[in-house]
Amino acid sequence: MKNILVTGGCGFIGSNFVRLALGELKESRIVNIDRLTYAGNLENLADLKDNPRYRFVRGDICDAEFVNRIFAEERIDTVVHFAAESHVDRSIEGPAEFIRTNILGTFTLLEAARKAWLAPMRVTSREPRKNRFLHVSTDEVYGSLGETGYFTEETPYDPRSPYSASKASSDHLVSAYFHTYDLPVVKTNCSNNYGPYHFPEKLIPLIINNALTGKELPVYGDGKNVRDWLYVEDHCRAILTVLQKGSLGETYNVGGNNEKQNIEIVQTVCDLLDEKVGLLPDGKPRRDLIRFVKDRPGHDRRYAIDATKIREELGWTPAVTFEEGIRKTVDWYLVHPDWIASVLDGSYQDYYEKMYGGRLKHD
Ligand code: NAD
Ligand code: TYD
Repeated sequence: MKNILVTGGCGFIGSNFVRLALGELKESRIVNIDRLTYAGNLENLADLKDNPRYRFVRGDICDAEFVNRIFAEERIDTVVHFAAESHVDRSIEGPAEFIRTNILGTFTLLEAARKAWLAPMRVTSREPRKNRFLHVSTDEVYGSLGETGYFTEETPYDPRSPYSASKASSDHLVSAYFHTYDLPVVKTNCSNNYGPYHFPEKLIPLIINNALTGKELPVYGDGKNVRDWLYVEDHCRAILTVLQKGSLGETYNVGGNNEKQNIEIVQTVCDLLDEKVGLLPDGKPRRDLIRFVKDRPGHDRRYAIDATKIREELGWTPAVTFEEGIRKTVDWYLVHPDWIASVLDGSYQDYYEKMYGGRLKHD
């Protein structure tokens, strides 16, 4: 792992991963390619700008010429692929970009890796493999659970939103490249993450921001949908573990063993903020801001991960409990009001111009 290509490293999980990986893998360089969509924020990695083992290049993973050039120029031997459109509600409003980035983008990267690593001579599976393509995916590909049961690596795929369908499709492409071309791939399917740098359109950071500023807290449907929450640093450590020890062609489910109903999450955030910054100016508790609103179409009822395989085979377990993780997260947002404001009004995108001298044009 000398030259690692990280895609989508300016997003929530990617930025946490790049920082962790540079600290842990002292012999590795990281090249981060990111298109800097609304979800990608260069400031998330501002502290690494002068690190000689880190390079950022703005670009689109669907652009084959660009991706091939990076593979050649940087002699990429390892890929950790995060780049995606990631928000379910946006995928319902406008699925096209999800199909493009999540499916076509993954295909473009797989093709680049195939050309760079397997051509001109096909490597046979007996030879030691120095390359690795880790595809970061989601538990949402498995569909929705009832009251009981867990997703295992054998659970049949049953995606139900345009987002999860696009991720499922990319997962199938990754598996196909392993079976057809022997491309050295590994795949992780993780549950809902939370923590620093989470874009405030997703449940936890949205609720923190709204509750801080006294806005209403929208809870979809009856609020009893269940997600399995994992602190982002634990997910990043799981990815590092799979990168270093995972078996080629295998999938590893990653989860926090931490199921919560949405309403519990919202109430916990309200109570923590009341405790940390005091009640609302009118003396009321933040729970009063909760509003049950129209449900998300096709809203998956429950996700829960069985993470036995990654625990038993690779020795990974989450280190941060939900109680610790949610406190750390709330604290991070409390001391980063400028970050929240700049990602919400889009002004963080001026940073690209300042730091890299180019204009950040959005199509
Ligand atoms: P995010 O939306 O915060 O970040 C995505 C990043 O990808 C952004 O920096 C964006 O600019 C970049 N990007 C988007 N389209 C691009 C393109 N065409 N070319 C290059 N870069 C592009 O997402 P996240 O929450 O950090 O998720 C990262 C990955 O992890 C995704 O693949 C997602 O499916 C997966 N995942 C997320 C969660 C979660 O809870 N957030 C859980 C499991 C899996
Ligand atoms: P989200 O953070 O969008 O993640 P995902 O849909 O990928 O699980 O949503 C988490 C849960 O919170 C999901 O059940 C939908 C719900 N939700 C709300 O109730 N209100 C909101 O404003 C949002 C964004 C989500």
